[in-house]
Amino acid sequence: MAYKMGLRVLQDAESYSIREAAPDEVENLLKMFKKDMSAKWVDQHHNLPGKKVALVVIDKETNQPIGGIERVVDTENGIATGVGFAVLKDFRRRGIGTTMLKVMDEELKNMGVTCITTVPASKNAAKFLKENGYEYEEFIKMYLAATFRSDKLVYGFEWAGMKKYL
Ligand SMILES: CC(C)(COP(=O)(O)OP(=O)(O)OC[C@H]1O[C@@H](n2cnc3c(N)ncnc32)[C@H](O)[C@@H]1OP(=O)(O)O)[C@@H](O)C(=O)NCCC(=O)NCCS
Repeated sequence: MAYKMGLRVLQDAESYSIREAAPDEVENLLKMFKKDMSAKWVDQHHNLPGKKVALVVIDKETNQPIGGIERVVDTENGIATGVGFAVLKDFRRRGIGTTMLKVMDEELKNMGVTCITTVPASKNAAKFLKENGYEYEEFIKMYLAATFRSDKLVYGFEWAGMKKYL
């Protein structure tokens, strides 16, 4: 599972590596996302037209996947849409999620992507995305500013999409 010929390693840390996911690994990643995210959401977004870009995090001790991320890229418009993003519970809060987002951003930037859009799966995910450079869509920001409300009000709402410009 860990070593797959021809797939680029994009980050080589002490205890894990991040590399491109092989097409036959993507189903497993989708299952991982669905532990914390709506299965309907994941399937719908995975099936969007465009180029699928998926990365997997491999634990060096066990050679098993411990996290992953997938985006679908509309190459004509330079926009990527989030499908799923997760780190297994036992491996969270060690910086892996942050590194994985950065590595994916770099990969997308090299492909000519200028904007990533996604909808956070939970309040924690919204907070995490915000800390990693994502902002709410313009109409939500205007509503919050006009009503003097904190953005915590919209954390976790399905319509409250976030975006990041690269
Ligand atoms: C969101 C998610 C991917 C983050 O993964 P992660 O590997 O835990 O991310 P990080 O470790 O980079 O950061 C998470 C937190 O750990 C903290 N952290 C990072 N390294 C740390 C360390 N060495 N020691 C202690 N805390 C650390 C970060 O500051 C961050 O804290 P905060 O959220 O309180 O600000 C993970 O929680 C997850 O899989 N959640 C379920 C699925 C999900 O919601 N996906 C997002 C869909 S939009």
